[in-house]
Amino acid sequence: MADLWQNAMDHAVSAARHAGEVVREALRDDRKQTVMTKSSLVDLVTQTDQKVEKLIIQSVKEKFPTHCFIGEESVSAGEPLLLTDAPTWIIDPIDGTTNFVHTFPFIAVSIGFSVNKQVEFGVVYSCLEDKMYTARRGRGAFCNGAPLQVSDQEDINQSIIATEFGSNRDAETVDKIFISLRRVLSLPVHGIRGAGTAAINMCLVASGCVEAYYEIGIHVWDVAAGSLIVSEAGGVLLDTDGGPADLMSRRIVAANRRIIAERLVKEIEPFSPIRDDAAPANQ
Ligand code: IPD
Repeated sequence: MADLWQNAMDHAVSAARHAGEVVREALRDDRKQTVMTKSSLVDLVTQTDQKVEKLIIQSVKEKFPTHCFIGEESVSAGEPLLLTDAPTWIIDPIDGTTNFVHTFPFIAVSIGFSVNKQVEFGVVYSCLEDKMYTARRGRGAFCNGAPLQVSDQEDINQSIIATEFGSNRDAETVDKIFISLRRVLSLPVHGIRGAGTAAINMCLVASGCVEAYYEIGIHVWDVAAGSLIVSEAGGVLLDTDGGPADLMSRRIVAANRRIIAERLVKEIEPFSPIRDDAAPANQ
């Protein structure tokens, strides 16, 4: 039992590396990507997202035929989004699809692996930087093999905070996002940043480059791998309501220290997107 999941993790690392090659190849290719939309006009998907997800799932199925999957593009094609106690691969084939479409240079392949609803390992491959972030529960977090450690800053006024605007543009949501942004900026913090990918933002927290990342509206595939990378680098995860982080709630605060996470929570205007585990409307 000792190292039950190491083979799976090794496989995740090589699948993410291969996926990254496919992404880089697609960017080198002159042909324009066909861009389709999903939940809103700015929630983008390309054939490369779909191809990469299929490649990863196919390769995992060959090696681990009993394992389950939650894949961003499979769910959007109608597969159920079900997190059970079974070994489950939680895959975002291209985290930062908007970046990919615009060649903005932060794109990640994110693979989390959960058992009993607990993430056992996380792999985030920042494929244009060629940075492979990995974490195994209880065994630390690494970037290209070097150990990661969150920042030791405890003063939010001396911090950089990462966040994103998500893909919901209804007026009420946009207003709430701006209320939070205004409050955080006015604390003041040193700066607000966003890489355009939740997974890379979380790896930046783990690396000590930014003190915290928060967002409402993310999905489980955006944060499953990154959440373990943050906690294994010594960081803290909360729900934006201040309670324990919940992978299915679509709300996350990932910070270097609890004091920073709790301070940030006070500034975040709450809203609650439909949970990832909410039953589909027709059931
Ligand atoms: C998106 C990115 C983005 C975040 C969105 C995510 P995708 O993931 O992580 O930074 O703001 O909430 O949906 O769609 O590029 O995989």
